[in-house]
Amino acid sequence: MTGLLEAHCVTVRYGSLAALDSVDLCVHDGQRHALIGPNGAGKTTLLNVIGGSTRPQRGTVRFDGRDVGRWGPAARARQGINRIHQRPAVFPTLTATENIVVAALPRVIPRRRWWPGGRRRIAYHRAGALLDQMGLADVAAVPAGHLAHGQRRQLEIAMALAGRPRLLLLDEPAAGLSAVEVGRLAEMLRTLPRAVALLLVEHRLDLVYALSDTVTVLRDGRTLAAGTPDEIRTSPLVRRAYADGVA
Ligand SMILES: Nc1ncnc2c1ncn2[C@@H]1O[C@H](COP(=O)(O)OP(=O)(O)OP(=O)(O)O)[C@@H](O)[C@H]1O
Ligand SMILES: [Mg+2]
Repeated sequence: MTGLLEAHCVTVRYGSLAALDSVDLCVHDGQRHALIGPNGAGKTTLLNVIGGSTRPQRGTVRFDGRDVGRWGPAARARQGINRIHQRPAVFPTLTATENIVVAALPRVIPRRRWWPGGRRRIAYHRAGALLDQMGLADVAAVPAGHLAHGQRRQLEIAMALAGRPRLLLLDEPAAGLSAVEVGRLAEMLRTLPRAVALLLVEHRLDLVYALSDTVTVLRDGRTLAAGTPDEIRTSPLVRRAYADGVA
């Protein structure tokens, strides 16, 4: 079976350090796939390669049957790969609504092309719905730079969803969130439609095991294990890697 995303034999080197060494990864349509591993394992680097911001020295990335290896992040986003970063990336002087509108506009196709302001109206409508979904309606008019960390994180996820992605790359979405916010995030991710596949990098293993269908474990740039959450949870190899490697 072919996957929505197929990364094959990906190698990224920084000088003598192999951040990734011949890594394979496959994510199917609608799948929830988690990528875990100790600090420095190569998780963010792999998301960068899939998102198009890092060009690997070796290896291929195929999305929806196409070789996207030479495409930049914007072209991949148009094709349906969106991401949130390890540190929330929002436009601080724009309001929460405006941030989502800016993210939505490139992917909005008006039903009637001649309708003046049609694209903007659709984008604002989509932004309103996403703010509701994220529990951010109360801060719709607040500049993103004034939002608390947890709210900025939710806003960034809303911005990624505004592009109607088929694959959402999430780099440590729970980092820095309170227990209540993590619960809200988990519920929101759990209820996302299966039209969106998720590739989740996360150190919170409770979240990983609750949300994912499959898990890949990286260590020192290599694939250490891959399997179902149950297989990974009980793997002595994985336990040892975490005991040795997590900061
Ligand atoms: N631009 C860079 N230049 C040099 N080394 C880098 C660069 N980016 C990443 N690295 C190194 O590559 C390795 C993998 O880094 P990466 O950020 O992918 O790890 P990670 O698994 O995301 O870790 P963490 O859990 O701490 O976020 C690390 O040793 C890191 O120091
Ligand atoms: Mg990282």
